[in-house]
Amino acid sequence: MNNFKFYSPTYFVFGKGSENEAGKYVKRFGGSKVLIHYGGGSVVRSGLLDRVKASLKLEGIDFVELGGVMPNPRSGLVYEGIELCRKEAVDFILAVGGGSSIDSAKAIAAGVVYDGDFWDFYEGKAIEKALPVGTVLTIAAAGSEGSGDSVITKEEGMLKRGAGGEALRPVFSILNPELTQTLPAYQTACGATDIMAHVFERYFTNTKEVEITDRLCEAVLLTMVKEVPRVIEDPNNYDARANIMWAGMVAHNNLVGVGRDQDWSSHGIEHELSALYDVAHGAGLAVIFPAWMTFVMKQDINRFAQIAVRVWGCEMNFANPEETAKEGIERLKKFLTSIGMPISFKELGAREEDIPLMVEKLGLGEKGTMGSFVALTAKDVEQIYRLAL
Ligand code: NZQ
Ligand code: ZN
Repeated sequence: MNNFKFYSPTYFVFGKGSENEAGKYVKRFGGSKVLIHYGGGSVVRSGLLDRVKASLKLEGIDFVELGGVMPNPRSGLVYEGIELCRKEAVDFILAVGGGSSIDSAKAIAAGVVYDGDFWDFYEGKAIEKALPVGTVLTIAAAGSEGSGDSVITKEEGMLKRGAGGEALRPVFSILNPELTQTLPAYQTACGATDIMAHVFERYFTNTKEVEITDRLCEAVLLTMVKEVPRVIEDPNNYDARANIMWAGMVAHNNLVGVGRDQDWSSHGIEHELSALYDVAHGAGLAVIFPAWMTFVMKQDINRFAQIAVRVWGCEMNFANPEETAKEGIERLKKFLTSIGMPISFKELGAREEDIPLMVEKLGLGEKGTMGSFVALTAKDVEQIYRLAL
């Protein structure tokens, strides 16, 4: 196991009705003037926004609001939010929504207290400070409610890039599984795929002797394999929703990834798909992950056979572990198809002729690589896109 530091100070408030405590927690974490930041309207239609506002009023906390965050959140609204916060002397950002609203809120939080262009952070500048961010989560997916990461798309060139830093970890996150019951089945499945992908990015590692995190990863995956079909069948199944919602947090606050090298090339490869076609991140991952796994499997057949046996219930073929490994990938594909995810470019609506452009936008050049399990060159990435056709 590698050396590591783990600091995850988010205060989680989980369960039915917990959104009504938003005001209480904003106050506890020092907010006196709040920007409520939300998406395209689901929180208005469900009445959630009104309940959150009522809880702020109850605590006597003043607020302004900015809606309109799109899935794959854009930089334009971030600039608008930064300006609004400065004009209104906002000292706390409350995201109400999914990963997109939370990521946009984090970008605003970092940008308000920075003299330069907030995009600098998405080009690699370290984030030293940010306004505090709280969240009321409405979809189990990105894990942004417990992570120090934010992903934003710059309209100019449709560049989708991530930034990270401890200052971006939400100070509190409110998770009420009931709020996810209004999600369309497709969005539920996209979120579930993203959660599983966050585990895969950590599971496929060259670090040895990582039994505890292997087993934690497998626990999250087994939970998803059991619970996702239950919510697809019955969207109002609270207990299945609750298990998935907590799995989404656990999958990405790095508890299951400490002490091991992590890969993350599939996320980078996927981000080019969601940037170019504006598809859901989870759907893009469903297309990329099986192709990536097929391409890199030979790096560690035993690890692929291990997940096939422990998570997908395959029987170990000791004479030919590669067969077991392949069977695991096939079962993943079947699972993704069964929950309504696309697993090919064709099903996603992506085009073969755009592959060179996506490879180029990754900026690897002649000699650059991405990923750690296998360091992929631009040519490798091109092959992975082609395996996904
Ligand atoms: O915008 P509204 O109207 O709210 O509708 C949203 C949106 O259309 C809808 N939705 C959310 N909760 C709902 C609901 N509809 C009905 N009922 C509800 N309860 O679902 C759609 C997707 O929402 P979004 O916030 O985009 O979903 P998600 O949480 O999957 O976030 C995706 C973004 O997060 C990034 C992705 O790249 C993508 O941009 N990621 C962020 C990460 C992080 N910060 O750590 C890590 C991830 O790997 C990921 O890259
Ligand atoms: Zn993701």
